[in-house]
Amino acid sequence: MRGLLLSAKGVSVSFLSSRGSTEALKEVDMNVSAGGCVAVVGESGSGKTTLLRACLGLVPLSAGSVTLFDRDLSECGDKELIALRRRCGYVPQDPFGCVPPTLNALDAAAEPLRITGKGNREQALLKAGELLAELGLDDQDLWKERVRLSLSGGQRQRVSIARALSLDPELLLADEPASMQDAANRGEVMEILRRRTRKGMGLLMATHDLPFAAAFADRVVVMYKGTVVETGPPDQVVENPLHPYSLALIAAMPGIGKEIRPPRPVEVKDRSFGGCPFAPMCPARTDRCRQAPSLTSASPSRSVACWNVGKESLER
Ligand SMILES: Nc1ncnc2c1ncn2[C@@H]1O[C@H](COP(=O)(O)OP(=O)(O)OP(=O)(O)O)[C@@H](O)[C@H]1O
Ligand SMILES: [Mg+2]
Repeated sequence: MRGLLLSAKGVSVSFLSSRGSTEALKEVDMNVSAGGCVAVVGESGSGKTTLLRACLGLVPLSAGSVTLFDRDLSECGDKELIALRRRCGYVPQDPFGCVPPTLNALDAAAEPLRITGKGNREQALLKAGELLAELGLDDQDLWKERVRLSLSGGQRQRVSIARALSLDPELLLADEPASMQDAANRGEVMEILRRRTRKGMGLLMATHDLPFAAAFADRVVVMYKGTVVETGPPDQVVENPLHPYSLALIAAMPGIGKEIRPPRPVEVKDRSFGGCPFAPMCPARTDRCRQAPSLTSASPSRSVACWNVGKESLER
């Protein structure tokens, strides 16, 4: 694939905790190309953050591989891993934890430049100031405030985005990058990121919010319980969702004049139903769903993991 920056193949991740083992990702495939914007969408706990972290080699894989800038991360030593990560920007889901407690907004945005030795202190601060202003933080008094003490959640999140953009990343991994912004600022933040993708940056973004993803992404990856259940161009997934879980997500989207319904009909819950991860909740399950379906191409641009979806579903 031309301009491929990131490729995850069959990626599985398990965590051990007091609750036992959690399979946070199961055989996930996903690609991001230069200039592309891929949005990973799914409910809380579906594995979005784990996927972004796995793509940066920040969590060990139990199976599969991640290739970043043509390098398989499992073959990289620590030095090479750091060098590859420096070509990426990362906006963590929690903009509070990512900034050292003593830093003010300007120093926080300049820190990656100073750590990597790109330019002198003055140049680093100048660039950080430009980025903060681009992100709507143009009040220079605010730049002197400690990020953790005096900035609002939305402001902190914009500082965190400025940090991630400070090294002009070839690939940005952004975890809920606009979750703390008001409606006007959300669009603005995304427009800033899209401006970068038009210049060739690849963008992998995690979000709960399917309409938000649909407005900005070229491709959506719908996840449920650590598995990819559907991928495709956002307009097609929203207009004609193929997987019953995507359908439930869209039915739950608020809209003007639309009655808000719970995403799943509770009466069909059957937690003992194994196989397809959505089967316990699925109104359309059949006996075949006791075996997990794999992600299969439904058209040249769309894939779905559901036994009940065939090519004819695209003609609905
Ligand atoms: N460090 C960890 N140790 C144990 N379990 C973890 C760890 N990180 C994530 N998990 C588990 O992995 C699963 C996926 O978590 P993840 O944070 O990737 O979900 P998410 O889709 O990002 O959720 P949210 O939308 O709430 O941010 C969850 O069941 C979570 O409890
Ligand atoms: Mg998350």
